[in-house]
Amino acid sequence: MTVSPTLVAAPFFDELVHWLPDNSEPVRPLVALSTITADGYPDTRHVLLSEFDEIGFYFHTDARSRKIAQLTRLPRAAFTVAWPELGRQLVVLGDTEPAPTTEAQRAYGNRSPYLKTLAWLNSPELAALPIDERIEAWRSFDGEHESDSLLPPATWAGILLRPTRVTLWHAHPGTASRRLEYTREAEGTWASNVLPG
Ligand SMILES: Cc1cc2nc3c(=O)[nH]c(=O)nc-3n(C[C@H](O)[C@H](O)[C@H](O)COP(=O)(O)O)c2cc1C
Repeated sequence: MTVSPTLVAAPFFDELVHWLPDNSEPVRPLVALSTITADGYPDTRHVLLSEFDEIGFYFHTDARSRKIAQLTRLPRAAFTVAWPELGRQLVVLGDTEPAPTTEAQRAYGNRSPYLKTLAWLNSPELAALPIDERIEAWRSFDGEHESDSLLPPATWAGILLRPTRVTLWHAHPGTASRRLEYTREAEGTWASNVLPG
């Protein structure tokens, strides 16, 4: 098995930690995550970036979701997020695998009370009900559970994306934007490249 180089050894890591909030920050970045359908089409949706560390980037979702079916079929994904006011865009692609259980449990614990409940009630059956019944189901669940003591449901699924390419796009008001692109090569090394914006 090939061991991925750690991100902390990557030349972009010091910059990345200034672009992304610390994992302890309750407000998580919203990113567009792409996976590939069985027909080979890219499929994109927004998700929260729950955490990142020296291994990669972590997302959390419902095990019954389309994205999990797609990643089970083809464990490759990309995500992008932009901060136009700061002149920054991050584009990452790489290989995915299930996140370790301890990470997924920690990420669940860090979610807001609303999102903890959502993970429990995010079912196709509930989605099919009229609005008053969905509100009642939510109210009833909240009445029976303390969000602080909620554990992740069996459908809580964590995705670890180990990057193979990371692109930092920089804008500058006085000149043309450009990209610094880092590609994972052999074990432990990253090649870098400068590209026009
Ligand atoms: C602001 C916002 C945050 C979201 N965060 C997540 C998330 O962290 N995880 C998730 O699975 N879906 C999240 N969603 C819902 C997804 O966009 C998507 O509708 C859902 O995951 C189903 O996608 P799929 O059928 O392609 O798997 C979020 C949506 C929005 C608008």
